[in-house]
Amino acid sequence: MFFGSNKMVVKSPRSKMVIGNSLFYPIVGFASFAVFIYMSFGDLWMNFHGETKLSFVERNGTQFLVEGQAFYVNGWNSYWLMDHAVDENRRPRIKAILQAGAKMGLTVCRAWAFNDGAYNALQISPGKFDEKVFTALDHVIAEARKYRIRLLLSLVNNLHAYGGKTQYVNWAWEEGVGLSSSNDSFFYDPTTRLYFKNYVKTVLTRKNTFTGIEYRDDPTIFAWELINEPRCLTDPSGDTLQDWIEEMSTFIKSIDRNHLLTVGLEGFYGPKSSKSLTVNPEFWAADLGADFIRNSEIPTVDFASVHVYPDQWLRNQSFEEKVQFVRKWLLSHIHDGDKVLRKPVMFTEFGLSTENKEFDPEKRDKFFKVILDIIYKSARRNLSGAGSFFWQFLVEGMEEYNDDFGIVPWERPSTYQLITEHSCRLAKLHGALSTQKVYLKSLCSSHS
Ligand SMILES: *[C@@H]1O[C@H](CO)[C@@H](O)[C@H](O)[C@H]1NC(C)=O
Ligand SMILES: *[C@@H]1O[C@H](CO)[C@@H](O)[C@H](O)[C@H]1NC(C)=O
Ligand SMILES: *[C@@H]1O[C@H](CO)[C@@H](O)[C@H](O)[C@H]1NC(C)=O
Ligand SMILES: *[C@@H]1O[C@H](CO)[C@@H](O)[C@H](O)[C@H]1NC(C)=O
Repeated sequence: MFFGSNKMVVKSPRSKMVIGNSLFYPIVGFASFAVFIYMSFGDLWMNFHGETKLSFVERNGTQFLVEGQAFYVNGWNSYWLMDHAVDENRRPRIKAILQAGAKMGLTVCRAWAFNDGAYNALQISPGKFDEKVFTALDHVIAEARKYRIRLLLSLVNNLHAYGGKTQYVNWAWEEGVGLSSSNDSFFYDPTTRLYFKNYVKTVLTRKNTFTGIEYRDDPTIFAWELINEPRCLTDPSGDTLQDWIEEMSTFIKSIDRNHLLTVGLEGFYGPKSSKSLTVNPEFWAADLGADFIRNSEIPTVDFASVHVYPDQWLRNQSFEEKVQFVRKWLLSHIHDGDKVLRKPVMFTEFGLSTENKEFDPEKRDKFFKVILDIIYKSARRNLSGAGSFFWQFLVEGMEEYNDDFGIVPWERPSTYQLITEHSCRLAKLHGALSTQKVYLKSLCSSHS
């Protein structure tokens, strides 16, 4: 998110509950759907003993594959997993959200695998790790494995929350070796580059204390994300960020050949792209030092990532205009995925702010549906639009971790229904993951 919106610790008033009632499938559709689900998943339901082997997610051109079948992701963000796992009292929330996610038929959760120098830091100072916090991250991965949820793990923040690039720059500066106090020097200072590589290597080669599996060998991890929402305003040419992405993605591949890798971009087109004028939300978006095509084209980047924040990016437009923008934004990136990049494209964050004066929860459902429908159509046509991740899901009692985007999905029946129907229709298209069938059996048949 761009305009001053902090993704953590922003209190927001609870919005009132509106119970939606729109049935997605007509009754006849439901009946045949239920039969389909029974025929497809019945056996597995009977045979399920709680242990199904997970395999690595692979890529075949513009599609993800799991066990040789196309895989389109219904995913969500809960950035707070590691942080909460540190504290005994808050740890049950990890299980609660992962179990709830699995029950909703969701397959991938995006979360932070970093906390640099802040409260509950994983990296206390360069190369110095807090074992208690590492064990918390072990716990998160072990729990995700239990519920067959894969994790998209981000390795550093461009923003200030949980340390981020600014913390790396401050460390170098404090040690008297930093080139500059500008937080963008994170990308070009040899010292901060080394700090980051050291961090990455430690995380990727970490042996999970619960499962005994090194992170780089663990198929519970869907993919690595280099950095959340990178921008390098001091070099709008984009060369600085590009160079960093090339070096870091190559470095990660030298340690871990198992996992896919993405950048973590917001998806803006750079100044040389004609789409900077036609698709970008506003003029500023081309001058952030990032470029969706150039950054995602690198061979060491396996899939592209895009965020969707219409009310942060288009500040003076109606809801209908924002929806127009969102459609164009998604279709443009999916087109790029198919025709230019030849890689999957994932919409790894999307949300509407409850702080916006126009906000209402029904509009938010409409906005969600626009995105989910585009992914569904992409899946139906075997296109590159490979998944979407709600920003963000919480469990009850987490108000202090809510930004103005958080949702407790089971508190909003209409939203919950939207999410679960999307899980079911995706599974119907390409088949459910073998590890997911046990959840879909009850979920998708209960719709009838
Ligand atoms: C991989 O993609 C190609 C075309 O892009 C397709 O012909 C082939 O069947 C795919 N392989 C699998 C295992 O899906
Ligand atoms: C980076 O530095 C610039 C200029 O001082 C500042 O505006 C921006 O907020 C900083 N970003 C972060 C993430 O700290
Ligand atoms: C916002 O929209 C109103 C009415 O359409 C217009 O008068 C105003 O100038 C706009 N503000 C900005 C910053 O574009
Ligand atoms: C999509 O790919 C699957 C195989 O993975 C194939 O069965 C199906 O016909 C394809 N659909 C379209 C519209 O090409």
